[in-house]
Amino acid sequence: MDTVCKLTEEILRKVGELYSLAHVEKPFRPGETRIPYAGRVFDERDMKAMVKAVLDFWLTLGPYGDEFEGKLKSFLGVSNALLVNSGSSANLLAVSALCSKELEDHLRSGDEVITPAVTLPTTVAPLLQNNLVPVFVDCELGTYNVDPMLLEGAVSDRTRAIFLPHTLGNPCDMEAIMSFARDHHVFVIEDMCDALGSRYRGRCVGTFGEFGTLSFYPAHHITCGEGGAVITNSEGLAGIARSIRDWGRACYCTHGTTDPLGACGRRFDFEIPGMPGTYDHRYTYTNIGYNFKPTDIQAALGSAQMDKLADFIQARQRNFRRLDAGLKEFAEFLILPTWKPEAEVSWFAYPITVRETAPFNRKDLVVWLEEGLIQTRLLFAGNILRQPGYRDIPHRTAGPLPNSDLVMRNSFFIGVYPGLRGEHIDYVMERFRRFFSLL
Ligand SMILES: Cc1ncc(COP(=O)(O)O)c(C=O)c1O
Repeated sequence: MDTVCKLTEEILRKVGELYSLAHVEKPFRPGETRIPYAGRVFDERDMKAMVKAVLDFWLTLGPYGDEFEGKLKSFLGVSNALLVNSGSSANLLAVSALCSKELEDHLRSGDEVITPAVTLPTTVAPLLQNNLVPVFVDCELGTYNVDPMLLEGAVSDRTRAIFLPHTLGNPCDMEAIMSFARDHHVFVIEDMCDALGSRYRGRCVGTFGEFGTLSFYPAHHITCGEGGAVITNSEGLAGIARSIRDWGRACYCTHGTTDPLGACGRRFDFEIPGMPGTYDHRYTYTNIGYNFKPTDIQAALGSAQMDKLADFIQARQRNFRRLDAGLKEFAEFLILPTWKPEAEVSWFAYPITVRETAPFNRKDLVVWLEEGLIQTRLLFAGNILRQPGYRDIPHRTAGPLPNSDLVMRNSFFIGVYPGLRGEHIDYVMERFRRFFSLL
C-alpha cells in the first residue's frame, strides 16, 4: 500500500473514532431532550464519504455526483437525475426548462400554471421569475394537496402546466391529475421535495409528470447539507435542464470527457448562424442559464445517505403510525391526516389541524408542545397570497380558498423523522394527553 493510501486510511479511521466520541446520540430524557421536527441523521460512513471527497479534492461536481445520480435513478426508476444545489433551484430549473426555446411547445410569458395556494414559496417564485401566471386552487383538508375537483374550474385558454407539491410526502391523486393533464395537454411538474420514496399505485411520485424536484436540505429524507435534484424520463428535457443548470451552455461534455476536442469530437467545428466563423462549443450558449451545481463533497454525502434511505422511510412510517394511532383519541378536536388508498407514503412529518369547534386554538397547543421541547412547524406559507412578499403578485384564483385560510390559521406539523424512536413518540403522546386532560 502506498503512503497516500495509508494516510487516507488512517484519517478515515480517525474520523470513525471522532464520530463515536462527538456525535453518538445521548440518552433520551423526557422533558429535557428536544424533539425536533426533523434533522440530519448520519453515521460514520457519511462523515467518511465526505472526508474522502475532501481528500480527493475534486471539489466541483464529479465522480461522487455520478454515483449519487446513479443511485437516485435506480431507486426512482427514472432515466435522468440531475443534481443541483437546492430544492428551490430544482424548482426554478424545472420551470425554466419548460420555458426554453429549445422545447418546441415551450411555456411563454403570460401562460398560466395551476398550483395550490398552500405551498412552499419556492414553488411559486419560479413561475413569477419566468413571467408565468400562477392560478391558485384550494387544498383538501387532511391531505393538504391540491383538490383535483377544482382543476377544471381553474382552466383558461392560457393554461399550460400544473405545478404540485406532494405535501409533507403525501402523494397527490395522480390518477385524477394525469387524466386532467392529458385532457388539457398541460405539463406536470411534481415538487417531491418532501416525498422521496412515496408511491402512488406502486410508482414513485415525481416520475408521473415532465419533472420531479427534490431537496436534500437536512430536514428532508436524505441530506447533502444543501442540495437538490431534478428527475425526468425525457432525454430532451434532461438535455435542456443540464444546459440551464450549467450556465446555459450548449456543450454536454462532462468531467469524464478527456478528448480535448470534446465528447462530440467537433468542439471547434460548430458554425452557428449569427456567430463569427466557428466557435468553441463549450462557450456557445443555447439557453439563459444559471450555475446550479452542487459540489462533489455534497454529492459524496448524498450518495452515502442513499444507502440508508429504505431504513429511513420505514422509520418515518413507523413513527407516523404510532402518532396516528395515539392521536385518533383526540379526533373530536383535531383533523388528522388522510391519504389515498393508492398511496404508500414516505412521510415528511405529521400534520394536524385544530378544528374550528375546538375549545382552544392552535397557538395554545403549539406553545404547550414547544414548552415541552417538542418542535412544531406551520404548514409552510399557509395561503401564500396572504404572505407579505406575495400579496401583489400577478395571479388568478380559481374560486375561494377557505381551506387554505383554515390551514394558515389552524394547521401545524410535528416530526416523524428517523432520529425519533418509540420513546420519543411515547413522550409526545403523553404531552398531548396531558394537554387534553387539562381542558
Ligand atoms: C415542498 C418543498 N419544495 C421546495 C423546497 C425547497 O427546498 P430547499 O430548501 O432545498 O431550497 C422545500 C424545502 O423545504 C419544500 O419543502
